[in-house]
Amino acid sequence: MASSTGTTLDIEARYAWAKSVAQQAAQMGMEFYQQRNDLTVEHKGDDRQDVVSIADKQIEAFIRAQLSEHFPEDGFLGEESGSADLNARCVWVIDPIDGTACFVNGLHNWCVSVGLLVDGEPYLGAIADPNHRELFHGCKGSGAFVNDTPLAVSQARHVREGLTGTGTFHPRGKEHFIPFLQKLLEAGGMFIRNGSGALMTAYVAAGRLIGYYETQLKSWDCVAGLVLVTEAGGRVNDFFRNDGLLDGNPYLVAGPGVYDQLAELIGPSLDG
Ligand code: IPD
Ligand code: CA
Ligand code: CA
Repeated sequence: MASSTGTTLDIEARYAWAKSVAQQAAQMGMEFYQQRNDLTVEHKGDDRQDVVSIADKQIEAFIRAQLSEHFPEDGFLGEESGSADLNARCVWVIDPIDGTACFVNGLHNWCVSVGLLVDGEPYLGAIADPNHRELFHGCKGSGAFVNDTPLAVSQARHVREGLTGTGTFHPRGKEHFIPFLQKLLEAGGMFIRNGSGALMTAYVAAGRLIGYYETQLKSWDCVAGLVLVTEAGGRVNDFFRNDGLLDGNPYLVAGPGVYDQLAELIGPSLDG
């Protein structure tokens, strides 16, 4: 129960709801995914790589409607439909499909990400990946799990000891990405980009990746995952500085033994 300002919040009910709604939404996503050749894909702005479909919009509308029914007093921020009541103590931050480019191209790396901020801090999260039947979830002080199995970050002490997740998008500029890749390779590391920031964050929490750097993420990509990483013993950068909630920021999550090394390889690009 979170109760720092006097009002007691029913965190358990919210945690249960997050897991349930993420899984229901992921099932909806699977139905669209199986019919993906019939979906009309639109491009957001000038970036031809930034895509969206009716699946993203309908899944977000479903989650938003469920939220108004179960926790009408809570705030909301979603990728597709904007925000409401951001001054509420509890604010849900949702990505209805993270990995849309994978989704529309028939690649299985996509998920539904449902995160909750309490008093501005990531507090609980659920990331549902229906293709691999994995539900990643966690709550502050209670640990992080994939299905029922507890998660722990990698104990690697050098980037050469494992795989590092990476990501970027065109507007941020390749100068924040290519030098990092070069230095990572020179240090004996190896990179992977699977197209879903939420899943790569969950994989850091699970110790599958030793760390994950993205030149710029949005809060709906990562609020749920940030809880998982910290609960699993990892480190995260100061993502919420300078209006990160609404504008996004550079992003680094990693096991404690490689966080500083990755931050050094990234250099000033991690600061904005
Ligand atoms: C994208 C994914 C991708 C990341 C992009 C995000 P979307 O989210 O998380 O991994 O590289 O920056 O925009 O558009 O699939 O929800
Ligand atoms: Ca996303
Ligand atoms: Ca999305």
